[in-house]
Amino acid sequence: MELFATKNFGKPEALTIAGYKALGGFQGLDKALAMPQQAVIDEVKKASLRGRGGAGFPAGVKWGFLPKDNPKPRYLAVNADEGEPGTFKDRLLMEGDPFGFLEGTVISSYALNVHHAYVYVRGEFFKARRIVQDAVDALYKEGLLGKSVCGSGYELDVTVHPGAGAYICGEETALLESLEGKRGEPRIKPPFPAVVGAFGCPTIINNVETLAYVPWILAKGADWFAGYGIAGEGGPKLFCMSGDVKRPGLYELHSGANLRELIYEHCGGIVGDKKLLAVIPGGASSAPLTVDEIDVGMDFETLKKKGTMLGSAATMVIAEGRCVVKILARTLKFFHHESCGQCTPCREGTGWLHRLMERLEHGGEPDVIRKDMGLLFGICDNMVGNTICVLADAAVMPTKGFVNKFRGVFEAHMDGRGCPLHRDAQGHP
Ligand SMILES: Cc1cc2nc3c(=O)[nH]c(=O)nc-3n(C[C@H](O)[C@H](O)[C@H](O)COP(=O)(O)O)c2cc1C
Ligand code: SF4
Repeated sequence: MELFATKNFGKPEALTIAGYKALGGFQGLDKALAMPQQAVIDEVKKASLRGRGGAGFPAGVKWGFLPKDNPKPRYLAVNADEGEPGTFKDRLLMEGDPFGFLEGTVISSYALNVHHAYVYVRGEFFKARRIVQDAVDALYKEGLLGKSVCGSGYELDVTVHPGAGAYICGEETALLESLEGKRGEPRIKPPFPAVVGAFGCPTIINNVETLAYVPWILAKGADWFAGYGIAGEGGPKLFCMSGDVKRPGLYELHSGANLRELIYEHCGGIVGDKKLLAVIPGGASSAPLTVDEIDVGMDFETLKKKGTMLGSAATMVIAEGRCVVKILARTLKFFHHESCGQCTPCREGTGWLHRLMERLEHGGEPDVIRKDMGLLFGICDNMVGNTICVLADAAVMPTKGFVNKFRGVFEAHMDGRGCPLHRDAQGHP
């Protein structure tokens, strides 16, 4: 399988400008700077590049939302907050090939007539942030950033900004608040960031992986990129494979790659040759697929039709012998902890669901458990669509998905004695 965004991984020379260039870098930038700005946008639109941060919104279409007549400066914010459990692609892109996504950042900024881009790097990613800062400093030194990018007369500054250490800061409007020095709390939309974004100015927010593929679109052409994936979802794609597979890691395949092949061919199958129980295809926010549902394309539209989502393609594989109630309890602990607390349905709902799952897994008063299980879907329905951002929906997706698909397992936990897998031969917890 040919590699693109990951082809420089493990090559130390990719961390210097000369080395990156020798490996074929900056071809996309050279081409872009010789093109009119609108032509670059059109090329990205034609390539069917879908955003890789989670929502899968077409990048070129989003770029088209920037108002043409607004005299204010416009910004590009690179979302490098990467907080979705199971996702590790952006960190590896930044650490392994920093000039790749930065080249995409410069091309995209040029196309959008942006003169200041921010790279918002997750607070805990100390190494990635240092590598990206070093790369940005080198780009300034060599004249690829600053007053005249590559002598073109186009001016661009890039600021690397540390994240505030919360999952919610990856939500695009919370990211903007954090960038402005405020608490990372999502804003009510509309207005959308493309109209009112950072510092009240039009702003485009794109994920690191999205931008890492922009140079490839320019270098190899939109038709190549569009043809590499599936209809409407172009290009190569990164899959973060984790859990009970023999060879976990980052895989670069094509958009729409088959999930069964990913697990059994690329990742070598299940650890200990156990049977597969379930797969979480797109990060903690996605509903699981059962073993009968893995002959499926890993793309945004196909997984949506299956009642789940591709998200950030953080694919977590679960073997038989694992307790899905425990997995859901752990997932809900995360969402409860990460809720920013602005919206009552999210703040209270995530806590309620979390406590219920803890009682199921570790034992509790049977009457309380039965009552709460009876209310479960009502709690979920009151959360979805009633909040400022979709973190509440993200907690509901796996909850409904696991309970619907593994109802028997949840029922076996309802006697208040905790997980049946942790009882002794006499059935005692
Ligand atoms: C709770 C929450 C957390 C998010 N975290 C991230 C993140 O860490 N990185 C990311 O790129 N997008 C994240 N997103 C999605 C962003 O809001 C946004 O859609 C994305 O950065 C847009 O980039 P793209 O169009 O290139 O995908 C998150 C969304 C939500 C609701
Ligand atoms: S849904 Fe949750 S995380 Fe999102 S703004 Fe409301 S309280 Fe905060």
